[in-house]
Amino acid sequence: MSPQPHTWLSVVGARPNFIKLAPLAWELAHHDDVRHVIVHTGQHYDTAMSDAFFTGLQIPEPDCSLGVGSGTHAAQTAAVMTRFEPVCEEFRPDIVVVYGDVNSTMGAALVATKLGIPVAHVEAGLRSGDRSMPEEINRLVTDRISDVLLAPSRDAVENLEFEGVDADRIHFVGNIMIDSLVRVLADARRFDAASRFGFAERSYIVATLHRPANVDHPETLRKLLDVLGTLSAEHPVIFLVHPRTRERMRAAGLDVPATMQLHDPLPYLETLSLVDSAGLVITDSGGLQEETSYLGIPCITVRGNTERPVTLTVGTNRLVPARRGPILEAARVALRAPRKRPRIELWDGKTAERIVSVLRNYTAMPQKAASRLAFHGI
Ligand code: UD1
Repeated sequence: MSPQPHTWLSVVGARPNFIKLAPLAWELAHHDDVRHVIVHTGQHYDTAMSDAFFTGLQIPEPDCSLGVGSGTHAAQTAAVMTRFEPVCEEFRPDIVVVYGDVNSTMGAALVATKLGIPVAHVEAGLRSGDRSMPEEINRLVTDRISDVLLAPSRDAVENLEFEGVDADRIHFVGNIMIDSLVRVLADARRFDAASRFGFAERSYIVATLHRPANVDHPETLRKLLDVLGTLSAEHPVIFLVHPRTRERMRAAGLDVPATMQLHDPLPYLETLSLVDSAGLVITDSGGLQEETSYLGIPCITVRGNTERPVTLTVGTNRLVPARRGPILEAARVALRAPRKRPRIELWDGKTAERIVSVLRNYTAMPQKAASRLAFHGI
């Protein structure tokens, strides 16, 4: 008789989560004794923000969609929690896996933990030190309550140790987002997005902005669009507009010069292809800081801090405040910089394999049975 399969349940909700889920889903397809249940909270729901990623990355259809949608932080997190609880009761997973730092991550981790289900956090230990960012609160809470902390970088391990986390909860597994990148890079290069947009290799700037600090205040957003407009008179600029940003631009009546290309968010492969041939990326995204570092593309991060300091130490990324002078100067310097591809420890395309091995060991341990008893209320 074949052994009873274990159930591992992944919860995802927003665009960067999908890129982190894909490698684990691919890896688990080779493990017959693990049933991988995928729950999509619906935090992101537009085709460009969600379906395009499931299709492009060949992620299996979610087993369950919670349809949470947009709302205030409290409303969104509460909806994730109330809708996820019965799903845990239905699937009775051996472990719940959460990803990154979005509201869905924290909401799902809270529900599972309170039901006595072990929680594994992929991308544990990142800290910006900036509690005005909702993601920092989500990271702190999720790490505090998760049982298995899967760290992407040495600094993340050190942050957890500094916070007094037991060493046996911390596992340095590397960066799972880089697994996705490694897998699709050859296809992305063949796609050649630069030529499709009519850009010469390394001549253009890819911009994305969506953090509340940059887009929610009309004056800051206007200033940032102005700077991109100025740069677009010197180099082609393509601005991939997040729905949050588009909405803020519309509400404030902001527009951009004709020299700048606005585009809806692109699917993963197209974005990667465009970034891989760019001369510079200007962003406030966490994922792009990492992807540009792996690829050796200069990146300007329009923030005062980053939870991904390794991208600064390897020299590809630079933090620049949301001010005209510093951004223009940093952009002009970066566009002249030679491309150099750094090596970052365990950013090697094999993180999902390491995660599966850690979780297999964890779910085979006797204390897991204790958690299961708690879940069943025994
Ligand atoms: C969320 C994450 C952020 C992550 C980002 C990636 C939190 C707190 N923030 O920010 O960490 O970097 O996702 O994109 O979890 N909207 C749509 N369609 C969609 C999704 C959103 O129109 O598919 C619009 C809605 O107007 C919504 C707004 O974008 O109110 C913001 O969406 P939300 O999920 O609250 O946060 P993000 O800014 O996307």
